[in-house]
Amino acid sequence: MEYEVVIPAAGQGKRMGADRNKLLLEVEGKPIIIHTLEVFEKDVNCLGIILAIHASDREELVSLFNQFNICKVIHTVEGGRERQQSVHNALKKASCDIVLVHDGARPFIQPSTIQKLVQTANDSGAAIAAVPVKDTIKVVRKGTVDKTIERSSLWSIQTPQAFRLSMIIKAYDEAELDGVMGTDDASLVEKMGEKIQVVEADYDNIKLTTKEDLIFAEAIFKKRRRS
Ligand code: CTP
Ligand code: MG
Repeated sequence: MEYEVVIPAAGQGKRMGADRNKLLLEVEGKPIIIHTLEVFEKDVNCLGIILAIHASDREELVSLFNQFNICKVIHTVEGGRERQQSVHNALKKASCDIVLVHDGARPFIQPSTIQKLVQTANDSGAAIAAVPVKDTIKVVRKGTVDKTIERSSLWSIQTPQAFRLSMIIKAYDEAELDGVMGTDDASLVEKMGEKIQVVEADYDNIKLTTKEDLIFAEAIFKKRRRS
């Protein structure tokens, strides 16, 4: 089942505390963004990658595409101030019936998960990658516990998130009109009353956010080299 992928890569990586976009930092001998792009470069069902980037990263990225033979980037668009704007700009260039949105900062996504997401979105419109929450989650107000939420109903939501193109475009257009900011892509689709299917993914599909995550990333690469 064929699809296109939108990859927001126009963040500043503030929580990583590096002096530049965290996606350009190297792990396992390659910039993080290259690891992420390679997953889709290798997937025959991926027809094209639409990347949202900062103008200041463009030159470096283009030279990395050449160096690492990344050929599937069909459009690069200007990133916005928020991730939502970056994704919206990129979605406007999409043309395939099924489109995935995937963070540039999640290099460990498994092809099997991508395939399940694409199939599920094709069958029912929207599907997101997630894992069951391991911790106990409590609502805390002013330093004291308000209540404990039943854990079995809690899932940590990741990307990719896969959608029928018409559905996600409509959701993003409506959010812009209404001035709504969602914390993920699916939340904008939820606002339209659409059902979102959940596809169980892997705990190692982490988003590289802080310095500690680079240590976890090295460990995940090491584990994958062994197996
Ligand atoms: N992103 C984007 N445009 C923005 C903000 C974020 O394209 N205006 C992208 C990031 O490059 C990243 C993904 O969205 O691939 C997830 O965002 P996050 O992990 O928060 O990255 P940053 O925003 O770069 O990091 P921080 O929030 O720590 O500054
Ligand atoms: Mg951010």
